[in-house]
Amino acid sequence: MNNFLWGVATSAFQIEGNISNDFTDWEQLGKFKNNGADPRYENGSNHWDLWETDFEYLKELNLNAYRFSIEWARIEPVRNEYSQSAIDKYHQMIDKLISLGIEPVITLHHFTHPSWFHDLSPWTESSSIEIFTKFAQKMVDEFAHKIKYWITFNEPQVWALAAYGDAKFPPGQKDLYKVMDAIYNILYAHIRIYDMLKSVDNNIQVGIAKHFVVFKEARRFFFDRNLVKKLHQFFNVMILEAFSTDSLEFQFPFLLSYNSFIPLDNKIDFWGINYYYRLHAKFKINYKNPIELFAKEPATDMGWEIYPKGLKKMIKLVDATNKNIMITENGIATEDEKLRMNFIKKHLKIVKSQMKKRKSLIGFFYWSLLDNYEWLEGKSKRFGLIHVDYNNNFKRKLKPAALLYASFIKKLSTVTN
Ligand code: BGC
Repeated sequence: MNNFLWGVATSAFQIEGNISNDFTDWEQLGKFKNNGADPRYENGSNHWDLWETDFEYLKELNLNAYRFSIEWARIEPVRNEYSQSAIDKYHQMIDKLISLGIEPVITLHHFTHPSWFHDLSPWTESSSIEIFTKFAQKMVDEFAHKIKYWITFNEPQVWALAAYGDAKFPPGQKDLYKVMDAIYNILYAHIRIYDMLKSVDNNIQVGIAKHFVVFKEARRFFFDRNLVKKLHQFFNVMILEAFSTDSLEFQFPFLLSYNSFIPLDNKIDFWGINYYYRLHAKFKINYKNPIELFAKEPATDMGWEIYPKGLKKMIKLVDATNKNIMITENGIATEDEKLRMNFIKKHLKIVKSQMKKRKSLIGFFYWSLLDNYEWLEGKSKRFGLIHVDYNNNFKRKLKPAALLYASFIKKLSTVTN
């Protein structure tokens, strides 16, 4: 039996509903609005109530894996006070997945925090490491005997840039050194959690889901080319390299010069690739803001360019680390099912050829199972394989692309058998 993981990915906050955390606080304080966004959470996709129905769909779609996250704010709503009922419910969910023959892939941190976190000890302070790893230890004690694949963090850079670079996510500051400090502390917490999990069972596989972007120079021009190199280094390479060099390092003239020792010591078993698009980059003569990024042919409802070849490039880049690779997110926001089907077909064609070529590629997860809350856009961007009717009790309906994905999986599973 082939054991390639065919799945879908979600994150707790985006689908569960009934949560209060740093994001709902921000919405209530009107901070998203002040920053030009207007997401409305309104109970996510109500997965907290409808999870059993949602899990039946996994089976129906021939999936053998499911990536999801645990909502820290639900588990530890008050510092050092854990909610047993929330923990019990996650146990039920995990047990149900296992009973359906679906491999659970758990993410411990997917952008959100309990309301008390940023004021007490934000990620820019080293004390955050202790606070997060204490929560992680609790999760490891509860779930490590049931789950083989653990993702410590989802997209540390994307989160840190949104929280401390352009101030779009809470706690909303603008300071590139804080971006780096936050990434540093997050990676430090990863080391601790890696050791924790390995001490429970050395076969547990621990990874990070990292965002990868293909950059292309907007003009055939030395400055644009140089900028592309820098952006590639920062977004795609810096963290990968830190694991082998034990140094988190990045230089950008006039903006940033950072170099810190970090004992990562190659402590990662697989890299998660979250891949969506390509961006074009233009260098501007403006020392405070020298970077312009844009999609040349925006095609999705997020305004993103569709560039399937980029997935192959990023798999190749990551494969050079000699670690396993899981495509932990790939998907499209659109209301045009033909476009979604085309997107899936093109990306799966690449997955198929890469699977044959590289043993290191161990899974693919479409983002996302359900239409859900998108961080700055709210419910208007529909990434799901299942349509959610927000005006009709969150009613679910399979989209045509879901069936296409299911039939691809069936075919590809026989190819690799
Ligand atoms: C994130 C998801 C998000 C998706 C689409 C990824 O960066 O991990 O939470 O919904 O992209 O924007």
